Amino acid sequence: MELTELGRGGPRVSRVGLGLMGMSGIYGPADESESKATIRAALDAGITLLDTGDFYGMGHNELLLRDALRGVDRSSVFIQVKFGGQRDPSGAFVGHDASPAMVKSSLAYSLVRLGTDYIDLYQPARLDRRVPIEETVGAIVEMIEAGYVRHLGLSEMGADTIRRAAAVHPVTGLQIEYSLMSRGIEASILPAVRELGVGVTAYGILSRGLLSSGSAREIGPADPRARFPRFQSENLRRNLDLLAALEAVADGRGVTTAQLAIAWVLSRGADIIPLIGTKRRDRLAEALVALDIDLSQDELAAIEAAVPASAVAGTRYDPGQMAALDSETS
Ligand SMILES: NC(=O)c1ccc[n+]([C@@H]2O[C@H](COP(=O)([O-])OP(=O)(O)OC[C@H]3O[C@@H](n4cnc5c(N)ncnc54)[C@H](OP(=O)(O)O)[C@@H]3O)[C@@H](O)[C@H]2O)c1
Repeated sequence: MELTELGRGGPRVSRVGLGLMGMSGIYGPADESESKATIRAALDAGITLLDTGDFYGMGHNELLLRDALRGVDRSSVFIQVKFGGQRDPSGAFVGHDASPAMVKSSLAYSLVRLGTDYIDLYQPARLDRRVPIEETVGAIVEMIEAGYVRHLGLSEMGADTIRRAAAVHPVTGLQIEYSLMSRGIEASILPAVRELGVGVTAYGILSRGLLSSGSAREIGPADPRARFPRFQSENLRRNLDLLAALEAVADGRGVTTAQLAIAWVLSRGADIIPLIGTKRRDRLAEALVALDIDLSQDELAAIEAAVPASAVAGTRYDPGQMAALDSETS
């Protein structure tokens, strides 16, 4: 596995990371042993960057990761943790808290659940509009100085907020949705992070599975992903037309649409690290093939013509969530 810098002069991590969110029920039931086997298979393949959040399964995801990493040299993995998302006992999201006290308290719990004495990169999952970003970052910097955290990260934040954060402390990574279907970061966020030397960990690289041939067509009303506008009735029908166009390009190259979509994200630059989002070993193996797909300019043009961002039907989150995203509103 090729290694790359996360952020200019930043830590060296694998060219792709593994996102663990789906292993804690966010997209429906997950098989615990298969999830752990997937993490171990990722490590065997050379993946070092593992992405979790304390609110993924209300701690479940971190405990799962701790179990999967038993016997693994701590220094061989790069664990990044999101915090701030608040959930009630039913699992409903009820708010976001990135106050300095919450930074420290959440971190303390994460360290115990993960069974580690430091986290490689710690990041607020969303901007807490009640708290100046300088205060959130200031508290993380205190934790860096105390040795509990190695690097500062941000998630789904707009260019102005990223600049304000970077004025307090170097930002190592920005986590944000980026795929053939979600190209919003190209206008102002990507230029800003490139100027500042902030790396990107790209999530939603398959637009929650929409860019893969199998799963999108199987999504019924009971699938938790059905809440996303892109998976709803007429939108889904139109988006499946785009997928069919992408399939034609993938067939021509002898690869799957998921592999092509991941290869496209990889082609955006070495500073963009795609997060593979799966809880299954077979899909991890499928995704890893993308690392060996070099796309010519003609192929890139054909891919972008098959899935023009302007033709995608439906926003990436529902209207309430979109309004709460600093990356979409600032
Ligand atoms: N910062 C943020 O706001 C934020 C938000 C969301 C996610 N994330 C992070 O990013 C990671 C990835 O995000 P994501 O999972 O939403 O993105 P994604 O990769 O676009 O979508 C993952 C979905 O696609 C399915 N899938 C994966 N490979 C497939 C294949 N080859 N064929 C068919 N279906 C396939 C997965 O199901 P299976 O698991 O069953 O394979 C899962 O339901 C998460 O794990 C999390 O760590 C961050």
